[in-house]
Amino acid sequence: MNEKELVAHHAAKLVQDGMLVGLGTGSTANYFIQELAHRCTEEGLKVTVAASSVVSTIKAQALGLPLVALEHLSKLDLYVDGADEVTPDLTLLKGRGFDLVKEKLMARASDKFLVLADPSKRVDRIGARFPIPVEVMPFAWTLVKHRLETFGGRGDLRQTANKDGLVVTSYGSLVLDMAFDPALEAAELNALLNDTPGVVEHGIFSGLASAVFVAVAGKVEEHWAK
Ligand code: A5P
Repeated sequence: MNEKELVAHHAAKLVQDGMLVGLGTGSTANYFIQELAHRCTEEGLKVTVAASSVVSTIKAQALGLPLVALEHLSKLDLYVDGADEVTPDLTLLKGRGFDLVKEKLMARASDKFLVLADPSKRVDRIGARFPIPVEVMPFAWTLVKHRLETFGGRGDLRQTANKDGLVVTSYGSLVLDMAFDPALEAAELNALLNDTPGVVEHGIFSGLASAVFVAVAGKVEEHWAK
């Protein structure tokens, strides 16, 4: 079992009968979705799920998990997802898969938000490995970019993998990938992005994770928020 699979199976064990579970997006979240479906088939576990993206919706459907649309929810019992960066204080960077809006909505609406990571995701500061994904209204991108540049931000609109067009999110937004001076802390960046009109959502998840599970040398470490 690889590290992503190991943490995913660990988290799946925490799901209890009757729970409403939020499904994340990405390779680690996929392992969780698979194991959850496996428990439902093998143990008769009964859950309802909500998905954070089109991709995880299709995966859940294919595995026969009963899905409910976000529009019908007021809260979730559990949300389980991966992350791109994790700091020691459990601040996260997410959004390389660019479905930020649903991910943050579900993280905020969950009683528990469990983050699945492998050691490569550990960083000392947000932005250490990746720029910050900033989802913007299409007509606002130049104004948002200019405002972020006045705070030292550098970056541009995200392009498709083969560089023949721009990435457009499931809800029609564009994505700016912005790097900032390392001296600017995640809390300041979070406040700046929250205070920038035209930003739909951004990839800094501050104060949202209940716990981060990391597989290290074949064992799962649990880091719970204080
Ligand atoms: C989705 O938008 C992202 O935040 C993912 O959770 C993140 O990219 C982790 O992906 P992997 O599990 O594939 O590493």
